Amino acid sequence: MTTQTPVADDAARLAAFEARIAADESIEPKDWMPERYRSQLIRMMSQHAHSEVVGMLPEGNWITRAPSLRRKMILLAKVQDEGGHGLYIYCGTETLGVDRQELVQQLLDGKAKYSSIFNYPTLSWADIGAIGWLVDGAAIVNQTMLAKASYGPYARAMVRICKEENFHKKQGYEFMVTLARGTPAQKAMAQESLNRWWWPSLMMFGPHDADSPNSDELKKWGVKRKSNDELRQRFVNLTIAQVKAIDLTVPDPDLRYDEASGDWITGPIDWDEFWRVVKGHGPCNSERLGARRKAHDEGRWVRDAAMAYAEKQQRNNRETTERQQ
Ligand code: ACO
Repeated sequence: MTTQTPVADDAARLAAFEARIAADESIEPKDWMPERYRSQLIRMMSQHAHSEVVGMLPEGNWITRAPSLRRKMILLAKVQDEGGHGLYIYCGTETLGVDRQELVQQLLDGKAKYSSIFNYPTLSWADIGAIGWLVDGAAIVNQTMLAKASYGPYARAMVRICKEENFHKKQGYEFMVTLARGTPAQKAMAQESLNRWWWPSLMMFGPHDADSPNSDELKKWGVKRKSNDELRQRFVNLTIAQVKAIDLTVPDPDLRYDEASGDWITGPIDWDEFWRVVKGHGPCNSERLGARRKAHDEGRWVRDAAMAYAEKQQRNNRETTERQQ
């Protein structure tokens, strides 16, 4: 991985850095930071950027089949937004001194992770509503916290992204409300979709805290403000009320309300399934990577044209400057 010339970490600089974190100061690209902070951010932010871009695929699958112009326009805008989120976050990652092309290549080579959720298929039109509601809903819970992350460019990207994710979530829930209040067949389609997306949505938050090797360090440095389990619990508590409001049920016979904590407690998550998907053996991992590789190959002429245009502009500017001297 190409990073800026590493500066040797020394105790005094580390102490000053940690004091800034403790004072809730924002860390900016030109500030000194421990190499480990930099590499953890590159890991997490690049995985996040890849997730946004790969996340366009499951929903993109339904654009041509949207049942009305209104739904098609909403879906087109949403998928386009996700591409934009990927670009903001790749830009944010570049401020850490890594080349975007290198990150994209890691994805194409199958060496980079992206969110497990995008390795599940969109089998019915209701899945488009369920993704907006649950997947974007989970993303908001996670990313609202990341908007307070200690690294300035990431936090600022999250503020902007969360505004759009809120729209995505609202349209997804409105979509599910419409199906749940529709014909019995439409309601059954909404329920069947909720059944398939519920558990993978809970897995998006990552392994339990006890099994999360990166959490302690990320929390110490103010990148993560809440743990995987805390955010998952918040999502469950928010979502169960929404499920009940539209008279659907989550596929969890063990779900119970805990009076003492005010939390909805779920049954066990299938972590074997989670790790299978993360390690590349989910239902759509190879299809998703295949689609990204094809798009990358077919987009080569666009990148070449943009480079040629940029070079021409630079040449023209140089010649103009030379003539004026
Ligand atoms: N899918 C794929 N991999 C995951 C997932 C997931 N849902 N959850 C955890 N992992 C991976 C981690 O990347 C890590 O692998 P690595 O060390 O090889 O990089 C490993 O599992 C262990 O997990 P943690 O130690 O808990 O990792 P971390 O502390 O980074 O927490 C989390 C994971 C919560 C996903 C965090 O990185 C994060 O908040 N990322 C930013 C948000 C994001 O990427 N969202 C993507 C989906 S949102 C959307 O695109 C709409």
